[in-house]
Amino acid sequence: YTSESYPGLKRDPKYSEISSEHVEFFKGILGGDTAVLDGVTRDAGDDLEGYNSDWMRKYRGHTRLVVKPKSTEEVSKVLKYCNDNMLAVVPQGGNSGLVGGSVPVFDEIVISTSRMNNIRSFDEVSGILVVDAGCILEVVDNFLAGKNHIFPLDLGAKGSCHIGGNVATNAGGLRLLRYGSLHGNVLGIEAVLPDGTIVDDLSKLRKNNTGYDLKQLFIGGEGTIGLITAVSVVCPQRPKAINVAYFGLESFEKVQQAYIEAKSQLSEILSAFELMDGQTQDYVHQVTGNKRPLEGRHPFYCLVETSGSNTEHDNEKLEHFLESVMGSEIVSDGVIAQDETQVRSLWGWREGITEAIGHFGGTYKYDLSIPLPELYSLVEETRERLSSAGLVGKDDSHPCVGVMGYGHMGDSNLHLNVAVRRYAREVEQALEPWVYEWIKKRNGSISAEHGLGVAKKAYIGYSRSETMIRLMKQIKDLYDPKGIMNPYKYI
Ligand code: FAD
Ligand code: MLT
Ligand code: ZN
Repeated sequence: YTSESYPGLKRDPKYSEISSEHVEFFKGILGGDTAVLDGVTRDAGDDLEGYNSDWMRKYRGHTRLVVKPKSTEEVSKVLKYCNDNMLAVVPQGGNSGLVGGSVPVFDEIVISTSRMNNIRSFDEVSGILVVDAGCILEVVDNFLAGKNHIFPLDLGAKGSCHIGGNVATNAGGLRLLRYGSLHGNVLGIEAVLPDGTIVDDLSKLRKNNTGYDLKQLFIGGEGTIGLITAVSVVCPQRPKAINVAYFGLESFEKVQQAYIEAKSQLSEILSAFELMDGQTQDYVHQVTGNKRPLEGRHPFYCLVETSGSNTEHDNEKLEHFLESVMGSEIVSDGVIAQDETQVRSLWGWREGITEAIGHFGGTYKYDLSIPLPELYSLVEETRERLSSAGLVGKDDSHPCVGVMGYGHMGDSNLHLNVAVRRYAREVEQALEPWVYEWIKKRNGSISAEHGLGVAKKAYIGYSRSETMIRLMKQIKDLYDPKGIMNPYKYI
């Protein structure tokens, strides 16, 4: 076995290969109908390729088997059998992850949560929701809308990502600044360990200081110690008023000033402060053909969202904020959405970036935590570095189309993206480990929210000490002594 996506990596012979006997076992426990893929029976539209390749079409495995359990008990039987028979597995939700964690490296069995999609309970008084891991984020949020609540996480992949995948990656998203991280919002977890043990920690308590908080290990654990089957989450009241402003600025210095002003003037109603550079907006314009929200071009753009309980009051505050930052020449031009359609359309200029960039072929993605004052310098230095190496250009002889930056300004989280016509070794060598060294020097993080997967595994040492890595490896060995859970990844 070799895999073109992972040069130099060899399949570990300790894992068994899938046999017809194994397939028969899975058919037996999951029901012979549509539970098992690989020439057995399939859901409409299913093919193995979809489970083997990731969202970016950068990582590709060679699984021959996808199993789709419908309950926690079925997951338990599947994992126990895999553990007893040394069959490696990859938990997969919506397969929207951006670090190659959700697809097999070689022939690992994919355990898809797509059939575990029940909303188990919702308490309107406390706002506590209990859902199966395979529920799609947007479906859950629509359900909550009917109950005047909101899921505390929102991101561009909401139409496909699963709650289990969100929790397993500890996804950050667009409103972390307001609602905080899943480490705080997830109150309980039900998960299955590789030996089939069901960990029932589906607590609905906000406060519970009785021993180590072990559920935290599954949040951001990327399927390496167990498979999450359900979660309980505390959900905030749905804001009655949502207002959005989009504005253009001339320098990153001004972006920082605008952020200070937004925090001070919008304070408790501020729910997002997102950064987009001029190039990202050019690409969104080029790919979607949509009319730009502002006349003229600016080197930087920001999207500010407020969420509150009084439309008039919030609108007034946002208008006053925009007037003030334009009056003091922090912001050059700006617009405020006048209705829900405009709110969605302005958000499209931020949420549509990931897809727009992907249109050119591929993207080298770096998801970084950087102290705010230096956040954008990395984009500028990367541009210089790739240009002077002759790697960026308008025609096909150059692998790179452009270098751009966007991200969650309010969380000091930069997404540095290098759009390429094709993935090329010389581009990767120019970027890695240079980007990671740059981050280490500033005590940043090489993965702010997307995780490690296979893409960042080798670089964890740039953000974590040897002691921390040793402790992590001990945890992995404790929970998954045979190493069947999502191998070749994470640490
Ligand atoms: P998958 O991609 O299927 O899996 C991701 C990882 O979790 C894999 O390692 C997998 O093995 C593991 N896993 C999945 N399900 C389980 C489970 N039930 N139990 C244990 N392990 C499991 N991320 C952000 O943080 N912020 C963003 O703003 C953001 N925006 C995005 C926008 C777009 C357009 C796209 C494509 C991705 C974006 N992401 C973002 C990446 C993000 O990680 C995912 O969208 C999401 O959290 C992953 O959910 P998923 O169900 O698709 O998981
Ligand atoms: C985002 O913030 O848009 C997501 O994390 C996806 C990406 O980095 O492209
Ligand atoms: Zn992001």
